[in-house]
Amino acid sequence: MEDFIKSAKKVLLGNKKKGYTLPTNNKLYPAQWNWDSGFIALGYSHFKLKYALDEIKTLIRGQWKDGMIPHILFHDLNTNYYPNHSVWSCGNKIHSSGITQPPILAIILKLILDKKRINNKDKAEFKKIVKGILKYHKWFIKFRDPNNSGLVSILHPWESGYDNSPLWDEPMSKVKIPKNLKYKRGDNKVVNPEYRPLDIDYDRYVTIKNHLRKNNYNPKKLYKASLFNVVDVGFNSIFLRANKDLLKLLNTFNLKSVELESYISKSENKIVKLYNHKKNIFFNIDLKNKKKINIPSITHYFILFADLKDKVLNNKIIKNLKKHSSKEKYLLSSVKSNHQKFEEKRYWRGPVWINCNWIIYQGLKNKNIKFAKQIKRKTINLVKQKGFNEYFSCKTGKGFGATNFSWTAALFLDLILENKND
Ligand code: GLC
Repeated sequence: MEDFIKSAKKVLLGNKKKGYTLPTNNKLYPAQWNWDSGFIALGYSHFKLKYALDEIKTLIRGQWKDGMIPHILFHDLNTNYYPNHSVWSCGNKIHSSGITQPPILAIILKLILDKKRINNKDKAEFKKIVKGILKYHKWFIKFRDPNNSGLVSILHPWESGYDNSPLWDEPMSKVKIPKNLKYKRGDNKVVNPEYRPLDIDYDRYVTIKNHLRKNNYNPKKLYKASLFNVVDVGFNSIFLRANKDLLKLLNTFNLKSVELESYISKSENKIVKLYNHKKNIFFNIDLKNKKKINIPSITHYFILFADLKDKVLNNKIIKNLKKHSSKEKYLLSSVKSNHQKFEEKRYWRGPVWINCNWIIYQGLKNKNIKFAKQIKRKTINLVKQKGFNEYFSCKTGKGFGATNFSWTAALFLDLILENKND
């Protein structure tokens, strides 16, 4: 095991730049990504706390004045990446994209602080980070849920982090691609196009993005005006868990937010309304087109991570999760493999992702430890056998996408080392 731990650390250190870490060492993702950085920080916390803090601090340095923490920060402007900083043309202290990603920072910070004792010198620094995260969460509540419903929206598939999921097919199909749309994608030159989104999907991502820019990324306007507005179960589960963890962090640092407290109870009541009791599965809401979206996505099981109080519902969800991948050798496929939209190799349309497994493992730990341990064991073994890939086939375990992938390495480390000091 020691060798694997060494290799995982090597992946992270190999991808490390000054103050942040790339998602991989090939040319696929030459910048800092929001939720990648969260997972990466957790990985570092097991052997170099300073790097973990640097990762988070840099991310918060890129926070916009209104509170949003962007999904990408472009530190290096000389890359061939598309869409690069000039295409987005925005940012505060650091060039950035104009959208966000799943807000896992509070969750990660709490996990780190639960394990590490911090000295007084570092306390002020942590308090500053917590304040930045609170500002970020308030931005979500204000601009992504202006009606104060308890559920936030995403305005671009890229905000979900599961960019190419079939969850977005229906709402994306309504986006009209302008005839004069011009751009040059780079991802399918670095990785086999069979594993990447189709051109038609990419055209729509770019169309939505261009429209956001045309509206100056104005968060007040865009909730209504965006070409895409979806309430996603996975994203809201992460936000609910993050809000609960943030509340505990606020307590630790003698801070308070009444708004956050009341939002948590609202979300808790509201998110269960997205459960279809007949089909025993959650659904998303396409707010733009006023439709339900029914796709058996693994991300719906992030609800376990939100730690709902309803035990009966949790047990139903767990029972269904067991069926999700029961036919597959490698857990957990991003889309149920008997569904018509399932694709073994294309990213987010079927393959196994280590961050999804990690989130679900965390959600299961306090509800069904036996099943949780099974997922943990299988996830560790998959990485040990196949390497630190971006994602994997649920049929053969074969690794796809980028190699030396940071969050695969970071979360592998966390799974192995989480109880080291217990
Ligand atoms: C892809 C993934 C996204 C991730 C990014 C960098 O765009 O869909 O979740 O953050 O790559 O790894």
